[in-house]
Amino acid sequence: MQSTDNMRGIVSRFETAGTVMEISPLGPGFINDTLIVKCLDGDAEVRYILQRKNHNVFPDVPGMMNNIVMVSDHIKAKVEAAGGDPMRETLTVVRRKADSIAEEEKGLPYHDLYYKDEDGNFWAMCLFIEGSVTYERADTPALAFKGGQGIGKFQAQLADFDIPLSETIKGFHNIRWRFVQWDEALERDAAGRVKDLAEEIGWIESRKEEMLAFWSLVEDGTIPTRVTHNDTKISNILFDKDGEVLCVIDLDTCMSSTSLNDFGDAIRSYTNTGAEDDRDLSKVSMSLEMFKAYAEGYLSERKASMTESELEWLAFSARYITYEQVLRFLMDYIDGDVYYKTNAPDHNLVRTHAQYKLLQSIEDQYEQMKAIIAAC
Ligand SMILES: Nc1ncnc2c1ncn2[C@@H]1O[C@H](COP(=O)(O)OP(=O)(O)O)[C@@H](O)[C@H]1O
Ligand SMILES: [Mg+2]
Repeated sequence: MQSTDNMRGIVSRFETAGTVMEISPLGPGFINDTLIVKCLDGDAEVRYILQRKNHNVFPDVPGMMNNIVMVSDHIKAKVEAAGGDPMRETLTVVRRKADSIAEEEKGLPYHDLYYKDEDGNFWAMCLFIEGSVTYERADTPALAFKGGQGIGKFQAQLADFDIPLSETIKGFHNIRWRFVQWDEALERDAAGRVKDLAEEIGWIESRKEEMLAFWSLVEDGTIPTRVTHNDTKISNILFDKDGEVLCVIDLDTCMSSTSLNDFGDAIRSYTNTGAEDDRDLSKVSMSLEMFKAYAEGYLSERKASMTESELEWLAFSARYITYEQVLRFLMDYIDGDVYYKTNAPDHNLVRTHAQYKLLQSIEDQYEQMKAIIAAC
């Protein structure tokens, strides 16, 4: 955590209203990268969110910030047209004060959207949306419905956004790219584990063609490329006091791809009756009730802006994303546990088995999933 003076120095570079009164970490965390900045503008209190953007995860923070501005500006126009409140129904990025931008910064792309401190950390600010509520977990069908509504609304507002966003994380959910990494990992066999994994490797290889066939439809435009959020957990949706969707936040991972991936990833995480690393596989399955609730919420907002091909492949996206996760856990196990944090030597293998159990459960219920979507 930085000193208060440092934090004030960082905040002073942004176009905030009035006088900065207080900077405090958001939530109970001590080492928090999200802070709340309280300002007093005359009699009015205005709050902001200040965030350190992890440039190890996002190598191109300026491009990422420009993505966020383009996406939220597009939503603002939609909200205004619908007579809503554009300051509450999407994020508002706070720009740099013009006179705080040094000469050497001026040549850099999107230099008014972030501040890079002496330690190389990137900082960005946005308006704090007052009177909003977030949920940490979605473990009831009612919350799954709301989560679906939130992402469905976000995607509907962006259905006509046709500017390609910069690729903030390379090859995200691109199975063709994953298979390149996969083949290299098998070839390297860095941890000498391949010889014991014939069965698990078979799970991946036996589904390779159908996964590539799906991705080909994205590549050839049969399934359209749109804005995807890529981190659809319910804690990234703000609701108002009556429980209505206000907006989707945490737009750092927004990219251009098939919006089906957002649906598939949400199904993967919302519907699992067990833990992602459950050793007790009898606990792991897809809850069809949670699937139904999420799909109904999502389609209530989104179906009018979907193409036939998107509707046709919507249920499959849950298989695609869950399969990719099986592959990623297994690949990290083969690589010797270099990507995911592990708490035991076999942790990634346990995750592989648990995620594969979920995939099988989704496959087993695929016809019912398609029927639920058709009924919406
Ligand atoms: N603009 C905002 N207005 C109100 N609350 C916010 C805002 N941005 C973030 N939050 C709150 O802070 C939490 C964490 O912010 P988020 O941008 O999702 O960062 P993280 O990367 O830590 O998930 C959110 O779940 C939400 O509760
Ligand atoms: Mg978040």
